[in-house]
Amino acid sequence: MSAPAAVLAGLGAHVPPRTVTNDELSRRMDTSDEWIVQRTGIRQRHWADFGVATSDLAVEAGRQALKSAGAGGFGDIGLLVVATATPDQQCPSTAPDVAARLGLGTIAALDVGAGCSGFVYALATASAALVAGHAERALVIGAETFRPFLDLTDRSTAVIFGDGAGAVVLRRGTTDEAGAVLTVDLGSDGTLKDLVGIPGNGSRHRSTGRPAHPDEQYLYMNGKEVFVHAVRRMAQSSSAVLDQAGWSVDEVDHVVGHQANLRILHALARQLGVDRERLVCHLDQVGNTSAASIPLALADAASRGRFRSRDRLLLTAFGAGLTWGSAALTWPGTTLA
Ligand code: COA
Repeated sequence: MSAPAAVLAGLGAHVPPRTVTNDELSRRMDTSDEWIVQRTGIRQRHWADFGVATSDLAVEAGRQALKSAGAGGFGDIGLLVVATATPDQQCPSTAPDVAARLGLGTIAALDVGAGCSGFVYALATASAALVAGHAERALVIGAETFRPFLDLTDRSTAVIFGDGAGAVVLRRGTTDEAGAVLTVDLGSDGTLKDLVGIPGNGSRHRSTGRPAHPDEQYLYMNGKEVFVHAVRRMAQSSSAVLDQAGWSVDEVDHVVGHQANLRILHALARQLGVDRERLVCHLDQVGNTSAASIPLALADAASRGRFRSRDRLLLTAFGAGLTWGSAALTWPGTTLA
């Protein structure tokens, strides 16, 4: 039976032009192309130049998504959600600035902070608003500028993260249409908040009256622990969303997992019982772009003509918080060029 749903209507992506290869990093720190490729699958990433902020990348990706949505793309967007762990500043949020620069007028605009799960959280937020009738169309952007938060003396994080932005336009439609977001599953476990994050600058530090130590301005991560939770939570959340959608694992055409580490994606595939050919993998080109990773992977696969109309996609992500989230959707009938 058909019901109201958000339907994918536009897609955009943008990465900053500067490519940083593993070999370049090997010259700056004690690492090697061999280690990075074997342990993560990453071959290069993009880093934003000095002076480029998250909103700058978000505007580029958003503009492309609106263009790909065609006539009406700019016209009746009523909501912008920007998912990011690296906003331009603590306050105000990044989304109103992005909305203004995209010429979207005085629409509702908010940031969603859920670490690397941010895009799935933002998709869920926008989908719910469309289904509730609060807007006819929404723009959802995942955007990150990690370079300023990377400690280049910490090889365990500096080689992992990259900068970029990906965006989708959603319109109000129905579940029987190609491109419908059918269901989402979201979760969190704040008892594990200390496994990954950027602690400096928040009210916790301010409340102690102690200025943040320079190290606290940087991203830290307990990679080994995060790895284990990532696989477990993405597998559980994927199963939950497949149950809700009424899909068996065999019916999924493409698994678009958070692009953190190829070994994590392979472990996820094993746990779900999905062959690796159905995994969408883009991290070799961009590294872990956090909230931008899923829309960047979607845009890359779409540009290669990998998806056909009504293909069944499982999106699944995890991130700082810890947070996790999954979505089941079908691919739209139109080309999202
Ligand atoms: N180059 C070379 N050696 C490195 C290195 C690098 N860039 N980073 C770490 N090492 C070394 C370590 O120092 C350690 O050396 P030791 O055995 O002499 O102590 C060895 O490699 C193994 O380190 P370890 O941390 O156990 O590696 P790992 O196999 O767990 O891989 C990650 C590290 C970070 C790639 C992996 O844990 C990971 O991907 N975790 C998930 C991270 C994630 O998804 N984050 C998303 C944010 S929510």
